[in-house]
Amino acid sequence: MTRLLTIMPFCLLLFACNSSNKEKNNDVDTTQKFTVTEKPFGGVDSSAVVQYTLSNPAGMQVSIINYGGTITEILVPDKEGNTGDVVLGYKSLDGFLQKENPYFGALIGRYGNRIAAAKFTLDGLVYQLAKNNNGNSLHGGDNGFDKVVWTAERMPGDSSLKLTYSSKDGEEGFPGQVNVQVTYTLTNNNELKLDYTATTDKATPVNLTSHAYFNLSAGKDSTIQNHELHLNADRYTPVNASLIPTGAVNGVKNTPMDFTTSKLVGRDIAKVDGGYDHNWVLNKASNELSLAATLLDAGSGRTMEVYTTEPAIQFYSGNFLDGTLKDTKSGQPYVKHAALCLEAQHYPDSPNQPSFPNTILKPGETYRQTTVYKFGVK
Ligand code: GLA
Repeated sequence: MTRLLTIMPFCLLLFACNSSNKEKNNDVDTTQKFTVTEKPFGGVDSSAVVQYTLSNPAGMQVSIINYGGTITEILVPDKEGNTGDVVLGYKSLDGFLQKENPYFGALIGRYGNRIAAAKFTLDGLVYQLAKNNNGNSLHGGDNGFDKVVWTAERMPGDSSLKLTYSSKDGEEGFPGQVNVQVTYTLTNNNELKLDYTATTDKATPVNLTSHAYFNLSAGKDSTIQNHELHLNADRYTPVNASLIPTGAVNGVKNTPMDFTTSKLVGRDIAKVDGGYDHNWVLNKASNELSLAATLLDAGSGRTMEVYTTEPAIQFYSGNFLDGTLKDTKSGQPYVKHAALCLEAQHYPDSPNQPSFPNTILKPGETYRQTTVYKFGVK
């Protein structure tokens, strides 16, 4: 494989790294270029926020800002070849900074999802976290990884962006300094790959995920009720009224939670109190990268497959969206169920639930997670 690296000084807006590949790979003409471009996207306190756009030879584009490591745009073609943006977001940084922003596109940590009573005990010590969700901790606390400015580094010769963040000992009440790295890579085959690693100097819970809100119709359909979803999961973790797992792991068969064969999201949603916002336990014996979910919007023909090394996935059907968010990308209101999230993760409240897979990272260990969002048409 001949790989030709060209550094072009002022391509598009600022610098762009280009790699061209003179071979044919499947049906993709790789003589076209992979690019990473960047442009200013405002600032937070004294830190500049930059938007990076990864493009592949097939014409797919993913934009990410270093604020929250947030995905701001995913442009993919429909069955007629028309490109559309399949994630919710805002026109400007102000949108992402609004207090009500429900984690659109962001990286989530140090502990994605909920920790009951915002409290856990580790090695005999009790740790109290911020109660930012009905007396519980949600998505890392008041200032989780979604609300910090990450250090971004373009990877030369590829369509990858490496983001790093160092979370201090005691940050949001968690023990230990945690150094996190997340690399976004756009491949030839319209896959967006997220590789996460983390290390710590004290034992601490770690559960990282991505909170993109998908609507594969790219604005044509105001909700995802007509999306067809398959989840490779025979079981899920039932929750109490504040969405904390009861500790049980139940079968989905003969319940509205059954997505073992593809069905419309809207088919049984009214039977689920509040809509879908649950953790499905993936059918897998080890942490191999395997298919977790398949989504289809028959109208546009767009499909998305989710592969992950994680043991579970939170399927959230955008229940708290109510049309009031400001500065939305196209100006259209994001109504209830306007989009859905498929958050590859460990189970919620694992630090308090000894029967759930372990989420405690210890010094000397490396947390690793890979999740792939693969787009196509049908
Ligand atoms: C997660 C949670 C939901 C909700 C959203 C953000 O997916 O599970 O309950 O808090 O984040 O609004």
